[in-house]
Amino acid sequence: MRHKHSDYMHWAKTQSKARFNLATSGVGAFPLRDLPFDYSRMEANGSNNSYGYQPLKGAIAGTYGADPDCVVTSEGTSMANYLAMATILEPGDEVLIEHPAYGLLVDAALHIGAEVKRFVRPEESGYAIAPAEIRRALTPKTKLIVITNLHNPSSVLTPDSVLREVADLARSVGARLLVDEVYLDAVYEGTPRTSFHLGPEVVVTNSLTKVYGLSGLRCGWILAQPDLARAMYRLNNVFASIWVHPGELLSTAAFEHLDMIRDRARRIVEADRAVLAEFLDQHDEVSAMRTPWGTTSFLRLRHGGADEFLVRLRSEYETSAAPGRFFGMPGHFRVGMGVDSEMFREGLRRVGLALAQ
Ligand SMILES: Cc1ncc(COP(=O)(O)O)c(C=O)c1O
Repeated sequence: MRHKHSDYMHWAKTQSKARFNLATSGVGAFPLRDLPFDYSRMEANGSNNSYGYQPLKGAIAGTYGADPDCVVTSEGTSMANYLAMATILEPGDEVLIEHPAYGLLVDAALHIGAEVKRFVRPEESGYAIAPAEIRRALTPKTKLIVITNLHNPSSVLTPDSVLREVADLARSVGARLLVDEVYLDAVYEGTPRTSFHLGPEVVVTNSLTKVYGLSGLRCGWILAQPDLARAMYRLNNVFASIWVHPGELLSTAAFEHLDMIRDRARRIVEADRAVLAEFLDQHDEVSAMRTPWGTTSFLRLRHGGADEFLVRLRSEYETSAAPGRFFGMPGHFRVGMGVDSEMFREGLRRVGLALAQ
């Protein structure tokens, strides 16, 4: 029986919300009224958008330094990841996915019928990717290696030198490397270039959701070599004929103001990170890999499992966080920054009270 669900997404949609919601992963909503846009241009239907709206593909290509023929527009990074995997993988192919990982990456691969193998990003080494670990796990059946950069849940950045090694390893067995970069632009200083440029075997996914607060526009994309990009669009024909044109128009406008949109969220993310650092300094009941960037942090409880703790946190302190079990690490929980600093501070204070109990 094919895998046809995502436990994490079901939980996120039905149980993650609380008065003090630390279970988020992206920044708060960007108010659409603050996006300069001439609404007399708004149309429900477009022309010139059968295989992606050209102005939007051009904006994505221009921003990330890729050829427009390498851009596949998709409904968020979620669909981008699925399309990329489903185009590259055949049932029975091996896919090597990082651990801990964002659950949907595993769910998508399982749904496709791939054989899922894992390589560990050890907490003790700061969730760093060790190419030697990947080399050991590769087989001639491996067709895809999947990583997130920044890493969800820890927000650790993988340097280009390591990504290049992993891309070379993928190439050595005729596989590809999928890098989900949905959090990468949350490196606010010296933002790294997309890893798409590291080699033809690299496929990248991204969207305007986590770092830009525009998740409702569902503007996601894939960067891939033109032949693969065309195959992805052809596969997408099975699911959808065209995209939502108002979304295409607004997303194209967003690309003209990306810095402004990102800067607004940056202030909140950075204020929250300072509060988190203070919290971690004061609470040795938890530990975390501290990063200077990213919208999430993965906290380890020194004692016990997180599930029981999170149930109590929610029922007695009206505060939620994402359970580590969804990342395959039940002693951890993930907190999200960048939504509302008052809420974040009070939520963490309540986490502290629950820890002290
Ligand atoms: C690593 C990763 N990729 C993709 C997504 C989904 O992104 P989108 O909202 O663009 O579909 C998430 C959401 O949490 C994520 O953490």
